[in-house]
Amino acid sequence: MQQSGLGAALLFAVVTLTAAGSYDYKDVLQKSLLFYEAQRSGKLPSDQKVTWRHDSALHDKGNNGEDLTGGYYDAGDYVKFGFPMAFTTTVLAWGLLDHHAGYQSANSVQECLKAIKWATDYFIKCHVSEYEYYGQVGSGNVDHAHWGRPEDMTEARPAYKITASKPGSDLAAETAAAFAAASLVFRSSNSTYANVLLKHAQQMYEFGYKYRGLFSDSITDSKCCYTSTHYEDELVWGAAWLYRATGDKTYLTYVDVLWDSFKNMYGFDWDQKFGGATVLLAKLTGETKYKTAITNYCDYVYEKGTRTSKGLIFIYDWGPLRYAINIAYVCLQAADLGIKTASYRAEAKKQMDYALGDAGRSYVIGFGNNPPTHAHHRAASCPDKPATCDWTTYHGSQPNAHVLYGGLVGGPNKTDQFTDVRTDWRHTEVGCDYNACFQSMLAHFVQLGY
Ligand SMILES: *[C@@H]1O[C@H](CO)[C@@H](O)[C@H](O)[C@H]1NC(C)=O
Ligand SMILES: *[C@@H]1O[C@H](CO)[C@@H](O)[C@H](O)[C@H]1NC(C)=O
Repeated sequence: MQQSGLGAALLFAVVTLTAAGSYDYKDVLQKSLLFYEAQRSGKLPSDQKVTWRHDSALHDKGNNGEDLTGGYYDAGDYVKFGFPMAFTTTVLAWGLLDHHAGYQSANSVQECLKAIKWATDYFIKCHVSEYEYYGQVGSGNVDHAHWGRPEDMTEARPAYKITASKPGSDLAAETAAAFAAASLVFRSSNSTYANVLLKHAQQMYEFGYKYRGLFSDSITDSKCCYTSTHYEDELVWGAAWLYRATGDKTYLTYVDVLWDSFKNMYGFDWDQKFGGATVLLAKLTGETKYKTAITNYCDYVYEKGTRTSKGLIFIYDWGPLRYAINIAYVCLQAADLGIKTASYRAEAKKQMDYALGDAGRSYVIGFGNNPPTHAHHRAASCPDKPATCDWTTYHGSQPNAHVLYGGLVGGPNKTDQFTDVRTDWRHTEVGCDYNACFQSMLAHFVQLGY
């Protein structure tokens, strides 16, 4: 009697909890894909759904006149930073590969393929020769001195590359990972394209492995925004993806060589690849070493990591939601391998639901309860032409002129507080990398039937 009463009470509690944090993940997934459309640079296709955006940066060129149009604007600005763009692409491809059924159920397979191809077509243009890769177009400081529409840009857009004498092992290996992961997602629909991507993946990996250095020491303009700390983690992550795409065990020997310098580089974000690389190697090889490493990492963050009082994992005050969701995503991948499945899945849902509304408001533009309306985003803030758009627009109290659907903003501060103003870029800016694990996690939730 008592036992079944308790059982019923527990069941009731579980049902209630599920209902409290129940969001339409398919809807958010579709909106996240719209966010990537809004970030497109270059000539927009006729099926573009975000119609307040138009063609822009049509003259982006390399030092020898190479066409470098296309790709994504990084965040609320118009620089095309190759390093976070490659990380974003790898993670989007990872999600489509592993949660294809989730994308299918949200009718979003084609849209996700387009989002990935928008980046990989650009990366192909940037890879101008075997050991020459353009890793940035637009200068951080020059770009950030202007506020306006991308369609109206008149400032110089310098292009910066890594070469054998100015290497960037991190950038080259992350781009190799993106190419390799994308080759896997295109394999069934277009094997010609998949083979092109794989060839670039192999070349870029070799470039990164052979010529060692941090890309931000070679492309110093990136230091405004993306100073890389190590390259060993990208070399491991890239090798794992190349192994997945080719089955060539040589790549695992690279991992072995790099393991000791890599194994304590906790984190998963545009700079840190430990979490993703470790769980991917655990999946591909089944080896205890990798399983133990990812378990220790997830347990450390979940049990000992700093949290806000409402439960958000809090790593850093600049874009805190993406760090929490990135970690939750790699631990969700670990859950699929049978590692603490129930608790890692519950924790992933908790971090996601925090962003979607559980902490009292939505942090996703155009979704849910009281979403942000003043995201730090130049294009969305600008009214349609011929209205002026400049720093006065930026400093005004009016909401953004356009709804940047699906953009995940930086998020709250350590005390769960958030002020929806454009000037607080640490908390109200969006970024291509912010939405990457976020979107892959949504696809996973849809696949799991959440
Ligand atoms: C497949 O990819 C190749 C190489 O990018 C391209 O030329 C071709 O048009 C694609 N085919 C289809 C059916 O999309
Ligand atoms: C958090 O944000 C609120 C409101 O924006 C602010 O008043 C408070 O000082 C911030 N706290 C921390 C720890 O940053």
